Amino acid sequence: MKFDRRRLLEKGWKIGGGLLAAAAGWTSWDLLQPLKPAGATGKLKLGSPSKFEPGTATFVNAGRLWVSNADGHLFAISQKCPHLGCRVPFCESSGRFECPCHGSVFDIGGEWISGPSPRGLDQHPLTLEDGELVADLGVHIKGPDHGAAEYLSPPLGPSCSEGG
Ligand code: FES
Repeated sequence: MKFDRRRLLEKGWKIGGGLLAAAAGWTSWDLLQPLKPAGATGKLKLGSPSKFEPGTATFVNAGRLWVSNADGHLFAISQKCPHLGCRVPFCESSGRFECPCHGSVFDIGGEWISGPSPRGLDQHPLTLEDGELVADLGVHIKGPDHGAAEYLSPPLGPSCSEGG
């Protein structure tokens, strides 16, 4: 049998492209799935509060939460959108939480700005224990009602959902 380099390359490209398409599809599907209730219910140590700079939101996978710092006020914000439960990422360019499913937008304090979400993002209480920030995953605080705008500020830049 003759070795055909061109056919081998063609097949390689097709297989590689197929694998890439499958990986992209899986990632998109997984991101848009509603979150199941988090299994963790205990207290989660988050380290020194100084790790969380003003104007930032840091995802903590162990608690499926965001630690955000709004003008020195720290929050442990649930990743789960109050609308239908999608995972809500923080958009670095706008400085806001933007739900990819139906477009709800929240400020850095988790307050509702726009979209179908019935309230702001839910939170867990934070305490300081021996200089370390601790989130209580067993306690859920309902997100602020519409109209709360204590931490609302103009967007830093383009929204992630606008492709910016
Ligand atoms: S699940 Fe977030 S806006 Fe619908």
